[in-house]
Amino acid sequence: MSDLSFPAGFAWGAATASYQIEGAVNEDGRKPSVWDTYCATPGKVEDGASGAVACDHYHRYQDDVNLIADLGFPYYRFSLAWPRIMPDGVGAVNPKGIDFYNRLIDALVEKGIQPAVTLFHWDYPQSLEDIGGWTHPDAHKWFGDYAETCFRAFGDRVKFWITENEPWCHAFLGSGVGAHAPGNTDLDLCYKVAHGLLLGHGEAVARYRGLNQGGKIGITTNHRYDVPYSDDPKDILATEQSNIWNAGWFLDPIYKGDYADYMKQRYPVPEFTEETSKLVSQPTDFMGLNFYEGSYVRWKDGAPNDAEQVPLHKSGETQMGWFRVPESLKTTLVKSQQAYNPAEIYITENGCAYDYPVVDGRVHDELRVQFLREYMAAARESIDEGVNLKGYFVWSLMDNFEWAFGYRPRFGIVHVDYETQVRTPKDSALMMREIIKANSLVPGLEFARS
Ligand code: NOJ
Repeated sequence: MSDLSFPAGFAWGAATASYQIEGAVNEDGRKPSVWDTYCATPGKVEDGASGAVACDHYHRYQDDVNLIADLGFPYYRFSLAWPRIMPDGVGAVNPKGIDFYNRLIDALVEKGIQPAVTLFHWDYPQSLEDIGGWTHPDAHKWFGDYAETCFRAFGDRVKFWITENEPWCHAFLGSGVGAHAPGNTDLDLCYKVAHGLLLGHGEAVARYRGLNQGGKIGITTNHRYDVPYSDDPKDILATEQSNIWNAGWFLDPIYKGDYADYMKQRYPVPEFTEETSKLVSQPTDFMGLNFYEGSYVRWKDGAPNDAEQVPLHKSGETQMGWFRVPESLKTTLVKSQQAYNPAEIYITENGCAYDYPVVDGRVHDELRVQFLREYMAAARESIDEGVNLKGYFVWSLMDNFEWAFGYRPRFGIVHVDYETQVRTPKDSALMMREIIKANSLVPGLEFARS
């Protein structure tokens, strides 16, 4: 068995995102994001749910910060709502939006918790979407202006910045297949949106460097490296193609300055100029990885990338229909390190959706305990294989608005009663507290057995 303790200074954190927890969508000058609009469109979100109230974190942030401190997390990852800070996306800054995040950041700092801040976690200002969104020629400048506003307002206390969260989801799910906001179904458009997101990332990094604030900046992608179903060369080829589409689409431009040939041949990706290539590929400080599930890939005629995903095995099916396959996290970490050699990798999200009730003030979320323990063990093993893994953020601090699935999937290590807004730490949260204290999975193992 490999060593179950983590390197000194390992960054343990819990993660959330603005639209999924804040609520207060019409308060203090915030204007609509594409997610408000999408949720208001009948049939888009399960049960017609929206983030209008969510976990009411906007009003309960101090209690939530106390909870994070209680659980012993040294880091907390959250995102800023662009339409709260710049309600029209560009131009006037909303002082009340700035105030809210100042209060939140101050409360964290007071408890000794380091803020890890995502600038864009999908709640794109509707007013910008209306004039072309990420495909507008100025889109990256708009994002740069917003990013710079945030760096100037919060950069004295925030030293860990994530430009964008899972641009693949925003581009492909949001504009390719319409399963996310803004809900376009245009498989050509999504490559243009993705390109705009890449330029925006580059612009934000450039603005950050220009301010010399001395912190770290990177991007979080939900890339994965799947493995071939068999030795059949067709399965191997389909796996390569699928991995380029899942990982390389964003990581090749960021680390190498251009799309892979496969992407250029198969998809209508825009071209980089010398200037935009440089902008997008300027060095970042870390690679952020959100990871849930990997699979086998089998060749399938006529399928996207000629690839069909086949489960590695069917254990621990979650409320999302995803499986508990911890070995796929290790594969993805090792291959990410080999492909791009990032100085640091942070798992900026990992977790699972299972619904367990509160009974006598406890939530015995056994499968989540097992899931997290196994994925963290896989993460630990990757360090022995040369991965520069520096941190692990669990998704999510608390149950919240799971996008098009509404409130049904519960990803939290803390249970939220949406009627009363009462928070109840689940067994998984208590386990995390022990693991963080020991900086080792050993207490996690003991906890899981008790
Ligand atoms: C990825 C996203 O960043 C987050 O918003 C979402 O809730 C989780 N994964 C779970 O699907």
